Amino acid sequence: MKQKILAIIFPLCLVGALSLMPLFACTPVDKTLLTENFDIARIQYRYLLNEGSRTDTLFPRTLDDSGKLKLTDKYEWTSGFFPGCLWYMYDGLKDDSIKNEAIKWTEKLESLKDFTEHHDLGFMMYCSYGNAYRVTGNPNYKNILVEAAKSLSSRFDPKVGSIKSWNRFGSWDGKNRYDFPVIIDNMMNLELLFFASKVTGDPYFKNIAVKHAENVMKNQIREDYSCHHVVCYDPQTGAVLSKETSQGYANNSTWARGQSWGIYGFTMSYRETGDKRFLNTAKKMADFYIDNENLPSDFVAYWDFNANEKGYTPSVKSKAKQTPTKYRDVSAAAVTASALLELSTFKGVDGTKYREAAEKIIASLSSPAYRAKTGTNGGFLLKHSVGSIAHGVEIDVPLVYADYYFLEALNRYSAITNRTN
Ligand code: GLY
Repeated sequence: MKQKILAIIFPLCLVGALSLMPLFACTPVDKTLLTENFDIARIQYRYLLNEGSRTDTLFPRTLDDSGKLKLTDKYEWTSGFFPGCLWYMYDGLKDDSIKNEAIKWTEKLESLKDFTEHHDLGFMMYCSYGNAYRVTGNPNYKNILVEAAKSLSSRFDPKVGSIKSWNRFGSWDGKNRYDFPVIIDNMMNLELLFFASKVTGDPYFKNIAVKHAENVMKNQIREDYSCHHVVCYDPQTGAVLSKETSQGYANNSTWARGQSWGIYGFTMSYRETGDKRFLNTAKKMADFYIDNENLPSDFVAYWDFNANEKGYTPSVKSKAKQTPTKYRDVSAAAVTASALLELSTFKGVDGTKYREAAEKIIASLSSPAYRAKTGTNGGFLLKHSVGSIAHGVEIDVPLVYADYYFLEALNRYSAITNRTN
């Protein structure tokens, strides 16, 4: 009798399990995984908050060689990510104690609204105050963001048609110095300008952002839709003087995080303008990442798509050639996942392709290979990112911006799936 019952039940269970399999096969990310990530983030960031609160003026970024928390001052490009992580954790967890910390850490950055020394004000202010304004609607935050956008605009040069990223750039071959370098990362800082035009009604900020993005398309994106990291202009004439790398393997290689900034930046620029040229660039840059023969099967890119490959040679002063290991860069994967999720929602794209690629990255980053066990990793959520191998710094470490874009991707995924369910 018992055997008879088993003979009936077993095939039924098997049919049930098999019918669920395609569901799991195409959606490796489910609600439980999102919740699990936020729960782990809560535990990790409680530790980081404790450590970070030992000083009032510094912001968590990574771990040093001895595994100790490394903080930076507010003028570093990464200062807005820690408050930004707290805002995204608040979105995911709806815990008021996290919101209070997010407010506290955001408001430490207020004086940056007048900062004009480099282009990264967009990262610093939009990831902190931008999220603060989105969540709270506090008009004071909006005013601070508009002031910051004015400061960033002061770096736009109409003759070049671009925002100057850094004040100076020296080639890795030691031969040249340039006064008007533009780096692909600068695409990310345009979001602050688009925001300022929306809330003030003044088109100037948007106009210069569009001009900058057009110049990037013209001079920074290669024919195969990979990108140069740095393009140096002559500020007198606006002419392109050179195309090089600062953080990539070689001048002709594709630095993975640079490619990710491009995918994200053009996706965001299309959202803000509806300009099909930006959508096309975002799609093709995304295809370069996803379809790349050098992309590992877990979709977490090596730090440079051409690292240690024939035909690519680091310049003489770059430390890249002293690094034979092909490290992964989790930060590039996290930025890409978040960008692909937004890209997947646009009409006229292969939404399934981009969404499945993002799901793959999220599933990989949620695995023990990349996500920290609670109580480890100095409190950061993700392991195995790369700051700059060319400079010999922050190699195979946690980075606060990897956590930021991963948390953003989790929230975006949750929003998309709630919309489609
Ligand atoms: N924006 C600097 C970097 O991606 O390392």
